[in-house]
Amino acid sequence: MSQKTFYVTTPIYYVTAKPHLGSLYSTVLADVATRWAQLQGRQTFFLTGTDEHGQKVALAADSAGKDPKVFVDDFIPAYKDVWKAYDIDYNRFIRTTDDDHIKLVQKWVKELLDQDKIYKGHYAGWYCTPCETFVKQVPDSDNPGDSQSCPDCGRDTVLVSEPCYFFRLSAYQDQLINFYKNNPDFITPRARMNEVISFVSDGLNDLCISRASVDWGIPFPGDLDQVIYVWADALNNYITAAGWGLPDKQKQFEAMWPADLQVIGKDIVRFHAVYWPAFLMASGLSLPKKLLTHGWITVDQKKMSKSLGNAVDPLELRTRYGSDVVRYYLVRKLAVSQDADFSYDDLEQTVNADLSNALGNLLNRICALTNKNEVSRLEPPSTWGEAELALRDELRNMIVAVKASMEEYQMHMAFSRVIKYVHVINAYVHSQQPWKIVRDDRDKFLVIMSAAVHALRAAAVLLWPVMPNKMEALLGALGASMQLGPDYLEKLAADDWNDTFTMIKVQPLFARIEKTKIKQEPSMDEQVKTENKSEQTFIDIQDFAKVQIATGTILSADKVEKSSKLLQLEVDCGQFGRRTILSGIQKDYSSEELVGLQGLFVLNLKPRVMMGVESQGMMLFAKDAQGSLKALTIAGKVPDGSQAQ
Ligand code: MSP
Repeated sequence: MSQKTFYVTTPIYYVTAKPHLGSLYSTVLADVATRWAQLQGRQTFFLTGTDEHGQKVALAADSAGKDPKVFVDDFIPAYKDVWKAYDIDYNRFIRTTDDDHIKLVQKWVKELLDQDKIYKGHYAGWYCTPCETFVKQVPDSDNPGDSQSCPDCGRDTVLVSEPCYFFRLSAYQDQLINFYKNNPDFITPRARMNEVISFVSDGLNDLCISRASVDWGIPFPGDLDQVIYVWADALNNYITAAGWGLPDKQKQFEAMWPADLQVIGKDIVRFHAVYWPAFLMASGLSLPKKLLTHGWITVDQKKMSKSLGNAVDPLELRTRYGSDVVRYYLVRKLAVSQDADFSYDDLEQTVNADLSNALGNLLNRICALTNKNEVSRLEPPSTWGEAELALRDELRNMIVAVKASMEEYQMHMAFSRVIKYVHVINAYVHSQQPWKIVRDDRDKFLVIMSAAVHALRAAAVLLWPVMPNKMEALLGALGASMQLGPDYLEKLAADDWNDTFTMIKVQPLFARIEKTKIKQEPSMDEQVKTENKSEQTFIDIQDFAKVQIATGTILSADKVEKSSKLLQLEVDCGQFGRRTILSGIQKDYSSEELVGLQGLFVLNLKPRVMMGVESQGMMLFAKDAQGSLKALTIAGKVPDGSQAQ
């Protein structure tokens, strides 16, 4: 029998925002798991894609003034570009607007309708559009009681009363509980399983799986007034992409299903651990083997998201640090079971410690020593000494530990264990002092180098799923390469270290990141403080001329939502146009004082997004004796857009 394909999925992303570091996190975890399976000689299939239907997307398209299909089409390059920039090696990028997906989801609904597992009814209750969730059914929609906020995201919900089709979710309660009991490892981390069991044990209502008041969705089979509920549409992507329901893809589907690993964020556990298994049970399909549910990436303890305006742009991070370094940081640093606060400082410290100091230096050291002593071919010795055998044993122990962590998808533990081994190799080289030994015993020197290179080669292979480019370059420097094949990992563990390496000169792989490169935008106060502290320096008049300072009249000044400092100013800057400029002056100025005021603005500062709003310049102020900001104004009125000179 041919081997089952190792099938990995990510959530499919709503195309209402560009991917941020949080979306990248889910996708990198899935990519690393796929590559890890390849390392073990598995045939793999990696699915990602976009969730394009539903009210949330329709509303976003509407506010962008675009037709929904044009709107979603326009978002696709943003996703594909980021995945490409991060070497996400997917096999299919599914879009829920793909023809095959649409037809198969309709087929799925039709089959369940025919079996009376879906029936027509009426939903009256609260609906959360940002989460696309039916929050609470109310017995009497004319008298719905107090409005509800969404238990998941806390935002306001809307009252919906419309005919709809229900999936008989309540019929699966016992079957689900049995499944959880028989498969206690279904969800990682296990704690989330307890939440799911208690949710299901509390009783399940039938689930509404169509919408009458929404147009942007897959037409409901046999009822033109309804579209399929976006979660019923989206969850099925995992089987439609594998070819479920297509006679010519039956074999492929059988080789792929059930999915081996479904990576999701903790906010969508209920959909994947309750509704999705029930859908599959209804269709007589096996259930996925594992749901890896990860925590959120936070900034200042708040979930990173576009709506909060704290999203970190993956492309900007890549430009600064490179794809492999960011991938490594995400996987090694963030424990899947917990939320983790992102900071540039933390990223740089981690990368400097693990990659520049440990791994990069080891390679540099080996290359420098072999190079200086004109060694290009490193032959294995006929017998290894005690220290080398200990290093090899330690490697074998490490592989066992790393495999065990990876089997439980504890990736941060797995890869930190590899780095721990890199420290062991460094300690070995240090203790052997090859730079001294080479003077009297060149053979011994070659043994030390060969052992270090064998050990480093193994570490590089194990780190390849996280840093495919850098590790291929590292292996290239040793004259080796990644050759995936059956039992690759086992061969590495059983390796007797009898390879010959050809040392090839390469540029250092991991440059140390200097603190000065940290560009976490300082607050205005911090900027002022730094400027005050710094010593007097002079600039040329040409430098001054580079700064475009011009006059502008404030047309409106409004508080920025959720910010206690920022005012959003709309400013007429004459020849420079109308600008939106954010200023942290809520405590210094009221809107009334500002509207009509002519001030001075820096207009060629790089635009900066704060709290989700782009600031296209900076208003100039000086502090008075009490520390309050006072606007720099003009003595007498001048045309807006007049440049300071
Ligand atoms: N479209 C649904 C998923 C349907 S799957 C059949 C959806 N999309 S989403 O774009 O809102 O979120 C996709 C994934 O990104 C979720 O797993 C979510 O947890 C993850 N993340 C979004 N923000 C995140 C962080 N700040 N940190 C980590 N992951 C986060 O839900």
